[in-house]
Amino acid sequence: MCSSIVVDVVVDQMARDVDALLPLCSQVFPNFERDYLDRLRTVADPVLCRALFEQRLIGFKLGYRRGRCLFYSWLGGVDREFRGRGIAAELMARQHELLSCLGYQPVETRTRASNRAMLILNLQCSFEVSGYENNANGVAVVSLRKMLPGKEVGSGAEAVNHLDFAPRKVGASAVECSA
Ligand SMILES: CC(C)(COP(=O)(O)OP(=O)(O)OC[C@H]1O[C@@H](n2cnc3c(N)ncnc32)[C@H](O)[C@@H]1OP(=O)(O)O)[C@@H](O)C(=O)NCCC(=O)NCCS
Repeated sequence: MCSSIVVDVVVDQMARDVDALLPLCSQVFPNFERDYLDRLRTVADPVLCRALFEQRLIGFKLGYRRGRCLFYSWLGGVDREFRGRGIAAELMARQHELLSCLGYQPVETRTRASNRAMLILNLQCSFEVSGYENNANGVAVVSLRKMLPGKEVGSGAEAVNHLDFAPRKVGASAVECSA
């Protein structure tokens, strides 16, 4: 039997659902602790792009508002079993499409300097390096920034619904998976 992977977007309370994110975060990030997601309680206007396979979360990209026009892309990952199929690239494309429609201009992100896959993906998606530092734990971190084309139509859940970000198959030719 074949099923498709779809990407959709959720905002507000659905984007703050720690229980929904925790299993995948625990799989993709070493030594992941639930507390790390506490930030979701307080951030403004979270946007969660989800990749779903048979309604199971197998990839995500999560960020939030940091200024009137500034979006911070905070966290993302793809289930190991599903990597190398363009899912992270699709999640980022969908995120940027939505942010642009919501009127965001710069989108910023941070990546460990050792995370080659994420750095390459960010550069492929037109991010530019904007900084480099050692964080409080002495880990080298690269900051990146991308300017989005502006085409504001509104903000918040209403705008997301208006934009019809219903689930879509991944890629021009959808990713098909054997179950
Ligand atoms: C980084 C990550 C999200 C990539 O997910 P993915 O779905 O496998 O990525 P994609 O298939 O969309 O790859 C898109 C591009 O990223 C780059 N890339 C992805 N994985 C790579 C790897 N292991 N090595 C080098 N480049 C890689 C490639 O350029 C690729 O494009 P290409 O296939 O046309 O060459 C995934 O490896 C992951 O979940 N890692 C652990 C979590 C993480 O590091 N998150 C980021 C910090 S929050």
